[in-house]
Amino acid sequence: MSTRETIVILDYGSQYTQLIARRVREQHVYAEILPWDVDPARIAALSPMGIVLSGGPNSVYDEGAPSLSEIVVEAGVPVLGICYGMQLLAQRLGGEVARGTAREYGPAHVEIERGDMALLKGLPAHLAVWMSHGDRVTTVPEGFSVLARSENGILAAIGDNARRIYGTQFHPEVHHTPQGAEILHRFLYDICGCQGSWTPDAFVEQAVADIRSQVGDGTVILGLSGGVDSAVVATLIHKAVGDQLTCIFVDTGLMRRDEAQQVAATFNEALGMHLVMVDASTRFFAALAGIVDPEEKRRIIGEQFIRVFEAEARRLNNAKFLGQGTIYPDVIESAGSASAHRIKSHHNVGGLPEEMDLQLVEPLRMLFKDEVRQVGLAMGLPEKLVWRHPFPGPGLAVRILGEVTRERVATLQAADTIFLEELWESGLYRDSAQAFAVLLPVRSVGVMGDGRTYANVVALRAVTTEDFMTADWARLPYDLLGRVANRIVNEVADVNRVVYDVSSKPPATIEWE
Ligand code: XMP
Repeated sequence: MSTRETIVILDYGSQYTQLIARRVREQHVYAEILPWDVDPARIAALSPMGIVLSGGPNSVYDEGAPSLSEIVVEAGVPVLGICYGMQLLAQRLGGEVARGTAREYGPAHVEIERGDMALLKGLPAHLAVWMSHGDRVTTVPEGFSVLARSENGILAAIGDNARRIYGTQFHPEVHHTPQGAEILHRFLYDICGCQGSWTPDAFVEQAVADIRSQVGDGTVILGLSGGVDSAVVATLIHKAVGDQLTCIFVDTGLMRRDEAQQVAATFNEALGMHLVMVDASTRFFAALAGIVDPEEKRRIIGEQFIRVFEAEARRLNNAKFLGQGTIYPDVIESAGSASAHRIKSHHNVGGLPEEMDLQLVEPLRMLFKDEVRQVGLAMGLPEKLVWRHPFPGPGLAVRILGEVTRERVATLQAADTIFLEELWESGLYRDSAQAFAVLLPVRSVGVMGDGRTYANVVALRAVTTEDFMTADWARLPYDLLGRVANRIVNEVADVNRVVYDVSSKPPATIEWE
């Protein structure tokens, strides 16, 4: 049973459902996503301050269309239905919905007719919104008023102040609805009566208490990867149970340059954690010798990693718990496809033998990535660590095409370090979601001084993306690219050419493999 102010978001399959949750949490109110057909007892257990119904691809007239759980109208808490959610409310409460053709999205303008009603109070009379066009409400249920109408007469917002039930045909959660945050704010604070208790500090306090009660006087092991999620989990668990936590860092030899030293400096020296550093690079390079197939490389690295981690974990033979950096997008039970959220599952340390019987400690389970970062900052982790781009589990092996050797890793590390240094220096690091160098398996001709060279080609890749499922290449300034290329060719031995990758995903992927 939660004591935290909670907004429940029922997911009807909209591509924007996670965005609704993020927008609510940005206003310091905790929001949890549940499937539309969830057991009503789970909604009741959260004692929500309000319920939001997401949009969705269906028509209320579709056979087997997702329906409205009775608890939504019976709980007596405020409700906001967005798009499909508004149509469901209208249909259920006795209004009329007209059938449209396929659902599509687009910009629209709406006129507010009832600026005196809580949801739209004090907003400009004329709003730009992101509208979804499909079915539409034509007659409001009894007790409801029309709050806003679009240029072509479509009911854009409706509401019943007495029952505190509202609907918008447009999407307040997207950036294309500039006043969307204000509308959500009115719903959360003026209508639901939230106080705004969801802050990084409040989260840390609660998480520390929860970890203490879960772990008791048991011991916890945790694999540090150098990334932000495991760093934040380690810091939280350490804050909660101190020396009962032992972190393990497996240096595969495939990390970015100086990563192992940085991990030691941050977690052992600055934060005083028990940290076991394992230099396993020799066995990784031996296992990778002669291997060029990308899938084979991944398989070998995964297998070696588990063996090394397991051996260390067994050495700490009294461990009862395993800390993990699982985050909310990995655990959301979505009405749409759960497969969309699996990108980083392979990142976690899985596959520990069952007989070790470790219980998971996953304090970030309910956080979005941006919240993990805020929590990291609130606990004083260094900015460069908190804003670090995601780094694949198999490390630089997926960025070296062809055979992975110690020498080739050193070449790539040197080029990669220059690229990242210059990006930080230019202030543009945080504008990319990922940026890195790739070492190609070809040599090209060049000229240096009087001599002809025949040396390696390095590709630079920088992308912007929200979710890593699709991505665009980052429009980095030419001057920056020029400086990076110059430095790489001058400072990294055996590289004479640098290219920039201008492919989007799809059809390309982010990594080259
Ligand atoms: P792609 O290359 O598929 O990458 O567009 C999408 C995201 O996943 C990361 N990635 C991996 N992460 N193990 C990981 O932990 C892997 O084997 C792996 N392959 C790709 C990639 O860096 C990007 O963030």
